[in-house]
Amino acid sequence: MSEKPKKEGLWKRIVHTFREKKETAHYKFNKIGKLRVHEFTDPVAAREILRQDANFGTPRFVKKGIGRFIGNALILDEGESWQNMHNLMVDIFSPKGVNKTIAPVITDECDKMIDRWLKDGKPLDLEHEMRGLTAKVVMRVVFSDSINEKQAQDIIDASTVTIESFRKPHKLTVAMRMLGIHKEYIPPMKKTYKESAAKIDGILETIIAERRKLKEQPDDILGRLLEATDVATGQPLTQKQIKDQLVMFIVAGHETTAVGLTFSLHELLKNDKELKKVQNEVDNFTHGQRLTPGDYNRLPNVRDAFKEAMRLHPSAYEIARECEHDTVVGGVQIKERDLIRISVLEMQRAPDLWQNAAEFKPERFRKEPMPRAWLPFGTGPRVCLGMTMAMTEGTLALAEIFNRVTFDVTERPTGEQLVFTMRPLGKLEATAKERKPNPAQPTP
Ligand code: HEM
Repeated sequence: MSEKPKKEGLWKRIVHTFREKKETAHYKFNKIGKLRVHEFTDPVAAREILRQDANFGTPRFVKKGIGRFIGNALILDEGESWQNMHNLMVDIFSPKGVNKTIAPVITDECDKMIDRWLKDGKPLDLEHEMRGLTAKVVMRVVFSDSINEKQAQDIIDASTVTIESFRKPHKLTVAMRMLGIHKEYIPPMKKTYKESAAKIDGILETIIAERRKLKEQPDDILGRLLEATDVATGQPLTQKQIKDQLVMFIVAGHETTAVGLTFSLHELLKNDKELKKVQNEVDNFTHGQRLTPGDYNRLPNVRDAFKEAMRLHPSAYEIARECEHDTVVGGVQIKERDLIRISVLEMQRAPDLWQNAAEFKPERFRKEPMPRAWLPFGTGPRVCLGMTMAMTEGTLALAEIFNRVTFDVTERPTGEQLVFTMRPLGKLEATAKERKPNPAQPTP
């Protein structure tokens, strides 16, 4: 019996009736009533937009929606106040800062994780493991040792629930935009999100109260926040401002890197030739010893494998902006309040921008002239502040994992899902076994 075609909902019918579309190779334009949305996959136009921070800010619906959880934290902030916070944190995340303080934390946490794998010998959910690793690393960067394991785990669990709600604009916001009404409807928070936010709040209050008792603050993110001054008031940051920044760093600093690492493991574990290159590079370098934090810059094959996994599976798959003043980008007229979507995912997979775009080919980063279409961390003044930390973490963690273990894979992801970040669909499950290093092998 043939299935009855599904009836289109009222919302979809309205959108289809009023939509005007234009499309060229790397640009799409959709106009529905007064709502205008430009989608760019052209690297030159994308970079031009991202460089013009003053004219292309974070969309208001994103600011208001996410702002319920993180107030005006650095990622949403603007102007002098953003600059102040950026300056306060930038050296922690600079190559020198990462090398000195963050890289040792990464290798330490990574070795502890691998020791546990080898001791337990159980099948591992590798996405879950990577989330655990990146969460532990970011917690130490934010709090040093002022957080215990339970508090850290509770914050991660609760923030995973709140992340789920960082979604698209509400239909009412879209409807108002279609009518030319520039307002955003932010629906009331679901009970579960409220509960998670309150839980995070309570834990942070306790940690902050303990830290305020110290005569001297450790040089970590919390320490810097406790000693910072608000540029607008000239006063120390309020408790809420501190908590907002902490939540932002925890969320921004673990989810994306965890997903990047999981996709890297997934690609390497289905690609023998690339895996051998990584193993040989690590063997020739470590000779069976543990990796040291300073090794990051000496592992180009491993670094390129992480970069290539983030090209094929960018965790921040789309960057959104809203135009503040009429302008022209790449010959396209953009009006005040137009929405912009930079589809990092499509750009990084475009067959005319990359040779054999669908293939996992890490060496492309050294053989092809560096394509300007690689944008997993954004670019311009709002480029990811944690980029060096993430690249270091990705490279060192992959190198140490393949230095010390081999895997028997029992389940693989079947695709991808677009949630807050792009995540694997389905589990990457494997059992880890101790690996005997095999030094001095020629690279295939
Ligand atoms: C693979 C891992 C990561 C990816 C793919 C990633 C991606 C991004 C992207 C695309 C942006 C720019 C968003 C925009 O322009 O609207 C961004 C901003 C940011 N990221 Fe990351 N990120 C990663 C890891 C990290 C880490 C480890 C941290 C810190 C612990 C971090 C902290 C930040 C911050 C603070 C911003 C805001 C910068 C600003 O607005 O000035 N990120 N990230």
